[in-house]
Amino acid sequence: MEQQPLVLAIDQGTTNTKAVLVDASGKVISRASAPLTSHYPRPGWAEQSADAIWNSVQSVIADIVAGDHGPIGGIAISNQRETLVVWDAETGAPLAPAILWQCRRTAVACQALVDAGHDAAVVDQTGLSINALFPASKLGWVMENVASARDLAEQGRLRAGTVDSWLLFKMTDGAVFATDHSNASRTMLFDTVRLVWSAELCALFKVPLSALPSPLPSNSRFGETGAGATALPGGIPILTMMGDSHAALYGHGVRRPGLVKATYGTGSSLMTLTDGRVASRHGLSSTIAWSDDGGVAYALEGNITVSAQALAFAATLLGLAGPAALSDLAQSVPESGTVVFVPALAGLGAPHWVDDATGTVSGMTHATRPAHIARATIEAVALQIADVFEAMQQDTGLDLAGLMADGGASTNDFLMQVQADVLDRPVLRGDQPEVGALGAAAMAFGAMGIQPPEPSHARHFSPGALSADARTDLLARWRQALMRVKMTL
Ligand code: G3P
Repeated sequence: MEQQPLVLAIDQGTTNTKAVLVDASGKVISRASAPLTSHYPRPGWAEQSADAIWNSVQSVIADIVAGDHGPIGGIAISNQRETLVVWDAETGAPLAPAILWQCRRTAVACQALVDAGHDAAVVDQTGLSINALFPASKLGWVMENVASARDLAEQGRLRAGTVDSWLLFKMTDGAVFATDHSNASRTMLFDTVRLVWSAELCALFKVPLSALPSPLPSNSRFGETGAGATALPGGIPILTMMGDSHAALYGHGVRRPGLVKATYGTGSSLMTLTDGRVASRHGLSSTIAWSDDGGVAYALEGNITVSAQALAFAATLLGLAGPAALSDLAQSVPESGTVVFVPALAGLGAPHWVDDATGTVSGMTHATRPAHIARATIEAVALQIADVFEAMQQDTGLDLAGLMADGGASTNDFLMQVQADVLDRPVLRGDQPEVGALGAAAMAFGAMGIQPPEPSHARHFSPGALSADARTDLLARWRQALMRVKMTL
């Protein structure tokens, strides 16, 4: 019997690059991982070496290829979004460090554009509110500050793209310069209705449209590996590219509006599909989830700035070994008493968007013990997610049925139970940690004409551990604490 081809899925993330080799049943045959360093050369700045990003991808591919496996029929890429790479088309060399999605160097320039009244037009075309997160202002900064970028742009040799387009260029030995619609939708330069780069927004951010990659559906045949570019032989097709958050939504098997996914990382990203492009009135961004033979799938996304990171932060403050110890301590009390922790350690993100907010612990009395603060921290992670979930319900007008969880902190059963109780909805957790990579792989199998099975969710957490009164009380105390945070500004 002929062996079914495998898909090599690469998940290029901020802290590491992972690769998984997947078969058509969705089973992971082998895994590899390589760490990646970020640099913070000035306050608010965040960079990575674009060469190091590429080397980490070459390294995980080499590890996978060295193992014993069947034929690799295609490659899928999911990647950190909004990070900008600029390079010379002829030499393939980066002109400057990659400017990370976290980098705030253009915050002042972005605020000036907001003050000048440009936000509504930008939201109208892109679904995104002007912010330094997105590559548009980062590329504007490059054009102003990197002389070689201006020279190369004049010669038609400048290439500027998100990490997917950089990896595609390198993998194809410089033959292809393209991106997918999901990554393009996060640049703040892409008209997400007409699916073209916006000349108007390029002019606003002072960036050359000619330096941007060709935007293509997420399940395109983007190109083929160049011989010698990686440990792979030449000629293997790259069949999927998708932003990591989008790939996770796909990896959970979400194909229709009605369910939400949450990734519990340093921060949290929640995403839900919408029926067409929905303008948010509740602090979310509207984005392209992916595009394939079924057309463009739109989504709403909410990004929480500090999520699971709050667990490590509170553990340190309480002198505990880490989040696991914090979680154990939290379970030693039946409730948080009157304590509420608002972990606005780097401002408040979606759906509140208060940049200058600072964290607070309120409601302490003589009866308060470290365990109450620990429990309030776990609740805070869940309550922030619940706020975005609620904003999604209001924006979509749907009664969203449940939450699919992934990311490091989703392995914490207690947090998942608290999440189900706070939401009053079931929370489902997958049985494989690499949800994003598996989502990208599933789309690549689809592009090969093979339908992988629905992903399974091994753990279901049902609401019910909290009484209706206790839930109402917890939500009310959380809202009061949030109000206090906003009032102190
Ligand atoms: O929006 C940025 C996000 O895509 C980064 O994801 O997994 O690298 O933290 P991650």
